[in-house]
Amino acid sequence: MTDDTQAFVSGLANVVAAETKLSHVDGEKGELIIAGYPLAELAPNASYEQVVYLLWNGKLPSADELSAFREQLVRFRRLPAATLNLLYEIVSKKVAVMDALRMAAGTLNLASSNEADYPYILVAAFPTIVASYWRLMNGEELVEPRNDLDHAAHFLYLLDGEVPSKARARALETYLNTVVDHGLNASTFTARVIISTQSDLVSAIVGAVGALKGPLHGGAPGPALDMVFEIGEESKAEDYLRKKLEAGERLMGFGHRVYKVRDPRADVLGAAAKKLYEADGDMKLYRLAQAVERTAIKLLEEYKPGRRLQTNVEFYTALLLHGIGFPTDLFTPTFALSRVGGWIAHCKEQLATGRLIRPKSIYIGEQGKTWRG
Ligand code: ACO
Repeated sequence: MTDDTQAFVSGLANVVAAETKLSHVDGEKGELIIAGYPLAELAPNASYEQVVYLLWNGKLPSADELSAFREQLVRFRRLPAATLNLLYEIVSKKVAVMDALRMAAGTLNLASSNEADYPYILVAAFPTIVASYWRLMNGEELVEPRNDLDHAAHFLYLLDGEVPSKARARALETYLNTVVDHGLNASTFTARVIISTQSDLVSAIVGAVGALKGPLHGGAPGPALDMVFEIGEESKAEDYLRKKLEAGERLMGFGHRVYKVRDPRADVLGAAAKKLYEADGDMKLYRLAQAVERTAIKLLEEYKPGRRLQTNVEFYTALLLHGIGFPTDLFTPTFALSRVGGWIAHCKEQLATGRLIRPKSIYIGEQGKTWRG
């Protein structure tokens, strides 16, 4: 065995590949700090614009700074004509929403010839892309963006054509704040690798969207909710989950590379979901989800002892977004339109403090073959 072989770490688990001031994930304590603030303090109270400003500038904005920041963002809520044309073109081909977002995101440099605008364009245009494409998929007229609504409320407005209630907008904003950044997850790492070559921000974000799409990263909440619906009632949970585990399947919404205790984001989103369902007066689904969670944790310990598989962010994401009224196909795109603020923060940090990211591989193929042309 060579020294190279000894250095290989499968999946780069526990390999430190960046220094960051953006977020700290403590997988043993179950803590998440966003630029100095505990998640549970920031997420339910701040606006998404405040959180993104914090990540990009290292401090919360003053009232004047916030209003200037907001103005920069709303300038780019309308999509370039070519982006819109692309959405009209691909909807007939039944392209999935995450793929549509990836394709449309790649055209966003058409919104300005000034690269300094790219961060604002990407954050502001993502909701317009997702909502516009969703309406086209459903055969509905597009809703014209407006400037007077905050980011979260404006996304709901673009989807529905109606100004949302404060409770729905707040629930969505809490979600957006909760998932905006999370250490060196796969999509963030992807963005940092791309920008480390001194490529452009749009390219970095397109790559990150592609990484987020996978079911082991951002694609889990839809299947997690499907599972709760399929179970249907508490008494069927154990039998259903046992069958899945016996078949060697993974339970979506459980397990995490870093967290070995309950994901702190599940607490924040669970609390937000409880508030929303209480306000609606129907706690049935919330209670069922809690029962499924308890049973899943118990069975995961039985079938995978010592792996310490706990609830991750996606389980309560599904419940909260469903409570806001989102269909499952919008779950991962909504994750993307939050995380884009974090990806950009990481790209800025990488450019300011990092160098080209270029790890190495070990060759395990054959050697000494002879060319016989
Ligand atoms: N259900 C059943 N078994 C599981 C689960 C699960 N959800 N998660 C991990 N395991 C098992 C694996 O089968 C493996 O078992 P083994 O030791 O017998 O082979 C063991 O636990 C370790 O699993 P790994 O895949 O090595 O762990 P890794 O750290 O690579 O995976 C991951 C983390 C991908 C999140 C995994 O837990 C999983 O697939 N979860 C379900 C998908 C999910 O919820 N994804 C969202 C994650 S949160 C986010 O990215 C925003």
